[in-house]
Amino acid sequence: MTTGTPARPDWGWAAPGRVNLMGEHTDYNDGWVLPFAIRHRTKVALCRRDDDRVRVHSTQQDVTVETTASTVPGDVSGWAGYVAGVVWALGTDGHRVPGVDLWVDSDVPMGAGLSSSAALACATALALDDLAGAGLDAAGIADVARRAENDYVRAPTGVMDQLASVHGRAGHALLIDTRDLTVEHHPARFVEDGYALLVIDTGATHTLADGGGYAERRSECERAAELLGVPALRDVTAADLDRLDDEVLHRRARHVVTEDARVLDCVRLLDAGDWAGVGAAFAASHASMRDDFEISCDELDVAVDASVAAGALGARMTGGGFGGSVIALVAAGDAEAVTSGCRRAFAEHGWYEPKMFAVEPGPGAARL
Ligand code: GLA
Repeated sequence: MTTGTPARPDWGWAAPGRVNLMGEHTDYNDGWVLPFAIRHRTKVALCRRDDDRVRVHSTQQDVTVETTASTVPGDVSGWAGYVAGVVWALGTDGHRVPGVDLWVDSDVPMGAGLSSSAALACATALALDDLAGAGLDAAGIADVARRAENDYVRAPTGVMDQLASVHGRAGHALLIDTRDLTVEHHPARFVEDGYALLVIDTGATHTLADGGGYAERRSECERAAELLGVPALRDVTAADLDRLDDEVLHRRARHVVTEDARVLDCVRLLDAGDWAGVGAAFAASHASMRDDFEISCDELDVAVDASVAAGALGARMTGGGFGGSVIALVAAGDAEAVTSGCRRAFAEHGWYEPKMFAVEPGPGAARL
């Protein structure tokens, strides 16, 4: 029987968070998304045990959570649920994970809409795939991580975050078709062209687990698809929307239909290096999320408006919404003016200063 906590081995696996350039709440509607993996990532180290305990140490928070290799949904909640969920998901596929001590560390901001949870689940899945000898490919890792999140943690998310984390590539955005899960890598050369993508983390919190606005939006979309007689809103055209009499469902579906179109437009603009066009698409997307899908909040709207007023080409919230972060596309020379503009606007509202930093497309999940 192993007792005590062994010394931490070297970090062996890592998986990144993401920003999404376009395509919000389209992934669970079988639509398109355009995220990229960021350089912030979660690292995992592990040491096999000779009993069946699974212990997870967060070096960031200096806490340890303990469960067993036969954990089931409901056993573990909070951040460690993503780790326990991976143990469980692998087990349901017949890949039994042995007892293990795991260490996790991360610089992906939590609750910022940058997929800290997918980074944790994907890094853990990669590590435990090696430990259990499961031999999963990238799509298999993303699937295990998604099931940990959907079925163990019970956050009813789509699959964008996990796919972005495993398929990330430096210098590239990922066009993902969430119906057939195909991924196209498109160069995103904004830095080379003299632009920066700023994340403005508003500090407003959101949670995707156990109901809340995210789950409500998801069921509204499913209801709209059902009323229109299609498998998913991906299959709806703008003309079909007239058949939705319910005013709220009409607006929800209109967001998804127009957002899907904006993803495909945005890829063309990205390929052409048309940054003014990308900025305009950001603005249209944010308006749609604010007015039709109603997933924005005051902090996000103020960050978008202040960025644009200070010279950004466009800005939009990124991720699940109801808080979290805005991304703003800015000429590199205007980055300073945009960050001070946001700082000032937040101070005027009496809010905490937002955290602001530039992101670039980085590599996907990997063994270190
Ligand atoms: C969260 C979910 C994703 C996706 C986005 C919204 O990040 O995890 O699956 O639905 O929200 O686009």
